[in-house]
Amino acid sequence: MRESVLQGLIQHFPNYQKAFAMKAVGLKRHLPITDADALLDLDLPQPLPGAHDLIVKVEAVSVNPVDTKRRHPKDLSGSEIPELASKGPRVLGFDAAGTVHQVGSAVTLFKPGDRVYYAGDVTRQGTNSEFHAVDERIVGHMPKSLDFAQAAALPLTAITAWEALFDRLHVSVKISPEPRPQPVLLVIGGAGGVGSIAIQLATKVAHLKVIATASRPESAAWCRELGAHHVVNHFGNIPEEVRALGIKNVDYVLIFNDTDVYLGPACEILAPQGGICSIVRTAKPVNMTPLMEKCATFTWEFMFTRASKATWDMIEQHRLLTEVGRLIDQGVIKATATTTLEPINAANLKKAHALVEGGRTIGKVVLRGW
Ligand SMILES: NC(=O)c1ccc[n+]([C@@H]2O[C@H](COP(=O)([O-])OP(=O)(O)OC[C@H]3O[C@@H](n4cnc5c(N)ncnc54)[C@H](OP(=O)(O)O)[C@@H]3O)[C@@H](O)[C@H]2O)c1
Repeated sequence: MRESVLQGLIQHFPNYQKAFAMKAVGLKRHLPITDADALLDLDLPQPLPGAHDLIVKVEAVSVNPVDTKRRHPKDLSGSEIPELASKGPRVLGFDAAGTVHQVGSAVTLFKPGDRVYYAGDVTRQGTNSEFHAVDERIVGHMPKSLDFAQAAALPLTAITAWEALFDRLHVSVKISPEPRPQPVLLVIGGAGGVGSIAIQLATKVAHLKVIATASRPESAAWCRELGAHHVVNHFGNIPEEVRALGIKNVDYVLIFNDTDVYLGPACEILAPQGGICSIVRTAKPVNMTPLMEKCATFTWEFMFTRASKATWDMIEQHRLLTEVGRLIDQGVIKATATTTLEPINAANLKKAHALVEGGRTIGKVVLRGW
């Protein structure tokens, strides 16, 4: 049954509800995805724009592991969400494509009617709602050649992969004056959402040689289709498998899965002066000493940092999403949505969460329409 959060408002302001209600999907308690109340259909008030905000009419969304991690039980009693108890239900969703409906007073980059795609900010309400408020500086113009569902698959993973390669590891496409072999990148978790974009950016934009990891014939085939030159199995001995390809070591490693498991093999196979970037937090302290004698670098990537900390350069995400859109429209990069569900409601979002939680999706799961 649809939750009516508006009931209180309606009692006091009877005219408010009809004009400004919207559908949304959210949670009130952290529950396993098998629980009927894990995600709820809700009626919520439409958001109002801050000065830099766009109000976007959301047409499609995608589901990422961040959704399932934020929804997941924090304890076994399925407790109320403490930080939101006074603010109402939590709306998840950190990828959207849609049309600009309204703009804030300081907005300069977009106008009503523009088609946009973006991931949003994990410290604000998510995109699983008919209307959504987002800072224009982290929004890109949607690729013209994609529909809303295909576009919604891209932003979070494209920002992560782009920032990891170009802003954290400082991978360059510049031609060095000294002749040198083509740099080699190892992507651990190649067939997932982030891996699917990273392989393409690395091979088609940075012109690296890419070794991806995948554990199944279908995920290995997907990595090769996206441009990976080699595929090794992440459940095997990765350094041994890489050396068996005749490759002594790699210049860069991207860790898109368990950092506690993969940092050791990454340090072992990394070349002197190489770089490792991980996007998955560790459960325990990590040992960086193996990197010392290689003068090697370890860096984190967290794609919500720029938006949630309002860094001076947060507009880089607007620029990179617009650039990724151009690469898509030019046919350099291909879209990564592999499963589409419709409409956007609690039942379908539960299906999508279950798929992503299974850890075996290839590419991205998207939902479209209300
Ligand atoms: N820091 C950030 O800003 C940021 C941003 C995005 C994502 N993340 C995190 O990065 C991780 C990856 O995200 P994603 O969206 O790419 O995930 P995803 O799409 O759910 O990844 C699915 C892929 O993971 C692979 N996989 C499963 N078990 C694995 C293992 N033990 N070792 C290596 N790969 C394994 C599977 O490949 P096979 O079937 O071939 O095994 C599958 O294709 C998640 O933990 C996510 O929360 C962080």
